[in-house]
Amino acid sequence: MAKSGLDDVVAAETVLSHVDGEGGHLIIRGFALDELAGHVATEQAIALLLHGFFPDLPDRGTLAAALGAARVAVFAEVETSGAGLAQLDPIESVRALMARLDDGDDLDVALKLIAAPAVFTPAMLRLRKGLAPIAPDAALSHAADTLRMLTGDTPSKERAAALDAYLVIVCDHGLNASTFAARVVASTQAGLASAVLAGLSALKGPLHGGAPGPVLDMFDDIGAPENAERWLDDAVMRGERLMGFGHRVYRVRDPRADALKSALRKLAASGGVDDARVAFAEAVEKAALTVLRRRKPGRSLDVNVDFYTVLLLEALGFSRDAFTCVFAMGRVPGWIAHAREQVLEGRLMRPQSRYVGPMPKQAA
Ligand code: SDX
Repeated sequence: MAKSGLDDVVAAETVLSHVDGEGGHLIIRGFALDELAGHVATEQAIALLLHGFFPDLPDRGTLAAALGAARVAVFAEVETSGAGLAQLDPIESVRALMARLDDGDDLDVALKLIAAPAVFTPAMLRLRKGLAPIAPDAALSHAADTLRMLTGDTPSKERAAALDAYLVIVCDHGLNASTFAARVVASTQAGLASAVLAGLSALKGPLHGGAPGPVLDMFDDIGAPENAERWLDDAVMRGERLMGFGHRVYRVRDPRADALKSALRKLAASGGVDDARVAFAEAVEKAALTVLRRRKPGRSLDVNVDFYTVLLLEALGFSRDAFTCVFAMGRVPGWIAHAREQVLEGRLMRPQSRYVGPMPKQAA
């Protein structure tokens, strides 16, 4: 029987992405991560992932306009229901608003689901502060419009590029827990919105996409580089997991960590993030790896995608309780592509379980 975490179980075949855990490489639709991260806009990553799954998928230029129109369309949900949800945690309010979107399997449904977290997250963050939500501008890129809806100002190209880099870096990642959840739901032919909501619910957990916010809490608790090793050692000795470290598949450094550091350096070069903040994070990473090697010898525990994410999203103006929503902004296209791939594969996902409970007294 497979381990309870389904470690190393191959549960699907996919053309979308490959996570090489031993080598520390990520391939997305035949491209190495480094060919994409920092080099293409999220619209191109979306087009790459959705290619072949929607006969009416437009080319990248037209896709940007169609995605802009989808942002405008879903904003209506904010106007009708946003105010009543703004006091919830951002991931809860975004999930509630996304649950109002039409289900189905066509491109219109897919684009609205991709647009939704980019529109709902800034709107909920603003409503919570007593500020009016800002309507989308379909003429802007997805990343630029997201930041404009958050701050009210059209972002610099460096800031838009930083968000683009993040959204591309997290767009797909093999059969992680949220993608697996999305595929299971898609396999019942429940529809793309249902599959995406399943993925969003799985992503919320702190062992998965809920980790970035607690990474920033850890930075706050550590306070200064000289406190890092002691704080981290105490945490591990208390049996706690260090957020932003470890991975079920990567036995070496998560390649996305360095892609994120590269995006951070570009943003820092334009004054968008404090160099001292990056240096502090690097000191914490170094101390954490020392502690993990001392206290967890023989386990391949290294930095993962969620560690440097926090400095980028903090610098872009997102509050830590919205980091998972931004993760979802990047991952929704991946969930949709996997959902469509599963539907086209055609089989209901239904594994077996081994019953170890009591048997009836009388013969069955
Ligand atoms: C994401 O799957 C994906 O691809 C996910 C993702 C994606 O893009 O979709 O990459 C995104 O979810 C990244 C991971 C974000 N989560 C965190 O940063 C939370 C902290 N990380 C851990 O909770 C943990 O590393 C997991 C959950 C990510 C993976 O853990 P596993 O594979 O279940 O490891 P395990 O529980 O078998 O642990 C093995 C040992 C244990 O020690 P012992 O009991 O053997 O003594 O390693 C220890 C664990 O205690 N360990 C850690 C640790 N992770 C594992 N100890 C301290 N800190 C950690 N982070």
